[in-house]
Amino acid sequence: MTERRVLVTGGAGVIGMAICRTLRDAGWTAVAGDLAPAIAAVDWAAAENAHIERVELDVTSRESVDAAVRTLGGEWAGLVNCAGILRDTLLGRTVEDNMRLMFEVNLAGTARVTDAFAPVIREGGAVVNIGSVTGYMGRFVGASVYGATKAGIGAYTTYLAVELAPRRIRVNNVAPGVIRAPMSPSMALVSGGEESCAEQAILGRIGEPEEVAEVVEFLLSDRASFITAQTLLVDGGFIAR
Ligand SMILES: NC(=O)c1ccc[n+]([C@@H]2O[C@H](COP(=O)([O-])OP(=O)(O)OC[C@H]3O[C@@H](n4cnc5c(N)ncnc54)[C@H](O)[C@@H]3O)[C@@H](O)[C@H]2O)c1
Repeated sequence: MTERRVLVTGGAGVIGMAICRTLRDAGWTAVAGDLAPAIAAVDWAAAENAHIERVELDVTSRESVDAAVRTLGGEWAGLVNCAGILRDTLLGRTVEDNMRLMFEVNLAGTARVTDAFAPVIREGGAVVNIGSVTGYMGRFVGASVYGATKAGIGAYTTYLAVELAPRRIRVNNVAPGVIRAPMSPSMALVSGGEESCAEQAILGRIGEPEEVAEVVEFLLSDRASFITAQTLLVDGGFIAR
């Protein structure tokens, strides 16, 4: 069988790592791309992380992304743009650096990594971007700029799907609701905390990282061979009411 390699940016994070494990378990070769400190913080020798490859990568730097393309070499079956950060930007507290960093990591980072890797994604491959439910609602007061970057990923996904369709490369956007991960102070502030988020989802709970990962694996696979240019919310019905 031909090796199916997938790069997962933000791959040392909570959702990124779940995606890497799910891909590995489904027979893909998962490569976690992340900042050096994030890579260093993971116990790669642990059984649950076995056979996951990694590369140091800063999605805000074209130089760093190009170096990863060169170091890793070869062809790719897929790319998952999962690196992302959230900072509170409530009016009056909108810190210039936070705004800039969110655009650079979440939106420009997604476009930058895709631009660098697209030439080495094989025909028939797939890209999955990780958006967020915050791109499609306004309830998380203070998440305005974050939500805007994530809504931007939706538009970027559509355009990219059109550009890559001639090479039969599908591009989709998975937009998670609130997922079980340690909440940063900004996330806790804008979301009101886990309990409040669980109540707001019509399923009455927050999601598990693996529930996002399963959808990503499906969209990368040939089982999703006629799905492209879509945004799929994995949010437990967070915006259903
Ligand atoms: N956790 C949630 O509830 C939730 C909900 C919706 C969307 N998301 C999105 O899912 C993705 C993963 O989130 P998570 O909850 O696993 O957070 P996380 O903080 O655990 O993971 C994010 C990863 O991105 C990496 N990263 C940050 N800046 C980077 C850079 N410049 N270059 C390379 N990597 C960088 C971090 O080091 C980290 O490992 C993000 O895009 C986030 O916006 C998360």
